[in-house]
Amino acid sequence: MTGANRGIGYAVATELMRRGCRVVLVTRNRARGEQAVAALGASPGGADGSAELVVGDLSVLSSIRAVAVELGSRCDRIDVLVHNAGVWPTRLVRTEDGYEQSFAVNHLAPFLLNHLLEKRLRRVVQVSAGLYVKGRVDPDRTPRGEDFHWMRTYCDTKLANLLTVPLFAKHWKNAGVTIDAVHPGVVRTGLGDPGGVKGRLLKVVKRRWDAPEAGAAPVTRWRSRPARDPGATSTVTVRYRSRPWRTIRPWLDGCGTRGWLMSPKQQRGEATAERLLASALDVFDSAGQPGFTVHAVTAASGVSLGSLYHHFGSFDGLAAALYSRCMAALFDELITALSRARTARTGVRAIVTAYLRFTEDNPAAARFIHASAYAGYLAAHAEQVAAAKAPRMAAVAGWLRPRMAAGEIATLPEPLIEMLLIGPVAETARRWLAGVPGIDLGQAARVLPDRIWRSLAPD
Ligand SMILES: NC(=O)c1ccc[n+]([C@@H]2O[C@H](COP(=O)([O-])OP(=O)(O)OC[C@H]3O[C@@H](n4cnc5c(N)ncnc54)[C@H](OP(=O)(O)O)[C@@H]3O)[C@@H](O)[C@H]2O)c1
Repeated sequence: MTGANRGIGYAVATELMRRGCRVVLVTRNRARGEQAVAALGASPGGADGSAELVVGDLSVLSSIRAVAVELGSRCDRIDVLVHNAGVWPTRLVRTEDGYEQSFAVNHLAPFLLNHLLEKRLRRVVQVSAGLYVKGRVDPDRTPRGEDFHWMRTYCDTKLANLLTVPLFAKHWKNAGVTIDAVHPGVVRTGLGDPGGVKGRLLKVVKRRWDAPEAGAAPVTRWRSRPARDPGATSTVTVRYRSRPWRTIRPWLDGCGTRGWLMSPKQQRGEATAERLLASALDVFDSAGQPGFTVHAVTAASGVSLGSLYHHFGSFDGLAAALYSRCMAALFDELITALSRARTARTGVRAIVTAYLRFTEDNPAAARFIHASAYAGYLAAHAEQVAAAKAPRMAAVAGWLRPRMAAGEIATLPEPLIEMLLIGPVAETARRWLAGVPGIDLGQAARVLPDRIWRSLAPD
């Protein structure tokens, strides 16, 4: 349950505690979170359930990933993920990733958490807002707040978020994960409080609005419908209290492609960049480093030299983007594997196994990663490469650090942990990719996970 320390989220958590649920609160501020956990435990009926805390700022991508890892390590199965945290921004604030803050919290955070936790999910409840009808998402400008407006931006981000709901329903069609978007009503909370005189006036107006408990009722109504079994078909329900949202109907019927939120020009641009990256990897795979030239890539992709420069600045820029993409795919596999692990031992073993599996399943990408290690394009585009890598490294570090602090992993400097964890498996992969005789990935997958764990286990 995100954003559960106050407002509607707190009222939902109270109700879930009363029903005897184990509630994991995700809050951005530790003190406020701890206060909420204590208050929930002390509330009448709270004794039936339990509350615990995960701290994470849902406006920052690396922190969202770290939250997913932490949730994954604590919960084998998440019966219900409630996306409730929300911001109504009264002024433009950009996050450290460069996104407008409400776009990150209201839209990107649920999107990313759904993906990162999907293997554990059974049901997702998205706290939406009836004001989505006022939204006019501009895919070019809304993400970074270039069209910021104190009233409309909130609606834009809620619309962007709502439009992903049917896409998830489709994505999870055969997994039996249910996703619902729910409007909680017009509720008396701190949402959009600008402070000062305006804030005091708004509080007076809000006195006539519903109490948070009334807003919690539609959010927790899933219990009245049966839980779904894995393998059953997903459903999507978008509810405004009990009435269906007629205006969203065409979207529910019509959404089905990844490109729905992009302008046609952006879609064309993305398709061209995609083609160049795919062709570059094919060329590298078939012709190796010597044949990896700008002419070979333009010939294979059918994209002009001018267009390649337009999208990537140079051939080195294309190579750096390809490296970032391959590296991100590898890291995402490792992070997904980590998010499923409960103990330090299973996490270490999972990382080793996932690295070897990625190498076997994606030899071209793995070869490109290894071949790039000392390539000039990485140094020339260090910033871009670091931007793709940093949040993923942070997610892995966010998993390791508390376990080191708890004494579950040997207390060593982090670079040495990385060497012991990734060094042997990366070298095995490199030699296998280079065709060195005697290297067998299957054998490595049987032997290395335990051997590497022994080097990292506490003395
Ligand atoms: N109130 C209404 O009338 C209404 C109507 C329609 C929809 N909604 C939706 O209902 C949901 C809950 O809103 P509310 O009215 O209860 O608002 P609220 O009282 O302002 O609560 C918002 C919650 O989100 C958390 N949050 C904000 N930014 C965060 C971040 N970066 N990382 C983690 N948590 C963050 C807040 O934490 P902090 O305490 O740390 O700020 C707080 O717990 C929102 O999604 C909102 O859009 C509300």
